[in-house]
Amino acid sequence: MEKKEVSNELQELLQTLEQQTNWDGRRLVKYDGFWLPEIAVRPIFSAQRYFKAKDSDIILTSIPKSGTTWLKALVFSIANRNVISIDQSPLLTSHPHTVVPFLEFNLYLFQENPHLQDLPSPRIFTTHMPFKILPDSIRESECKIIYICRNPLDQFVSHRHFLLENKIEKDAVPLDIDAAFDLFCQGIHPFGPFWDHILGYWNAGLKNPEKVLFLRYEDLKEDITPHVKKIAEFIGSPFSPEEEKQGVVDQISRLCSFENLRNLEVNKNGYILKVLKNSSFFRKGEVGDWINHLTPAMAERVKDLLVSKFDGSGLIFKI
Ligand code: A3P
Repeated sequence: MEKKEVSNELQELLQTLEQQTNWDGRRLVKYDGFWLPEIAVRPIFSAQRYFKAKDSDIILTSIPKSGTTWLKALVFSIANRNVISIDQSPLLTSHPHTVVPFLEFNLYLFQENPHLQDLPSPRIFTTHMPFKILPDSIRESECKIIYICRNPLDQFVSHRHFLLENKIEKDAVPLDIDAAFDLFCQGIHPFGPFWDHILGYWNAGLKNPEKVLFLRYEDLKEDITPHVKKIAEFIGSPFSPEEEKQGVVDQISRLCSFENLRNLEVNKNGYILKVLKNSSFFRKGEVGDWINHLTPAMAERVKDLLVSKFDGSGLIFKI
């Protein structure tokens, strides 16, 4: 399948938008206050125009490198546990990003208006779009949104490794860590600023907790069991006492664990979209790895940002 060409109209719009070069040499454009990877703009516009959410849909959302892969595996397994047994899970033979597609990096990247109506329910899609840029029908329908975020220091470190590992712009010289970090703190990174991205979903979850489930990577790492149950309840499919007795919650947690997914043959080899190594989505899977890469002064800078940007929101990160 060929990628859709950017129309002249969109090309003209792109030229009016503020642009920046990301740490890895790829272009970001500022749209509605957010820095979108240029490659995602046309698919996002197509999704905004054509995507029709169903009430039964589950939409997974995040900033890149916040635990999206884990969330995909968990939600897919929880939502489909009565249809596919865990030992037959497609996650054993396919990468989570193949099992649960992105709106902007898979479906609408290749087609202007892909036919999604007949996919079995619940349809599960993922997007990195900020809340306010989501297609209207996602916000307005009864569909569920599950957001995962992560403390920005670990997210920055994870993202930097990911971009260096998947060097897409072959001739580009990646920025050194100080320069990259400086851009990050200015909010200039894919789907940034992180504070606006996170606050958009945090506020939406406060306003309508039935609609938006707000998760933190660190909380899932601390204890996955209550979160697997919480996700199941949130999507209207709580575990029965019988399932709990049979250990289904533990089986799903184990299937989706970092150690298990990382060691599967499919996740050790191969590529997504021909350029992203499957293995690059499974690096360390730890909380607090930033300490091995960033200075205390860098951490202070982000802590100060969090205090000022999240002031009064009730949102806190354990760093
Ligand atoms: P690290 O680079 O810190 O290891 P995303 O899925 O949003 O791209 O985020 C990737 C980050 O989540 C990486 O973090 C990756 O190792 C971690 N990750 C992937 N699968 C995971 C899992 N099953 N459990 C915990 N962390 C996971």
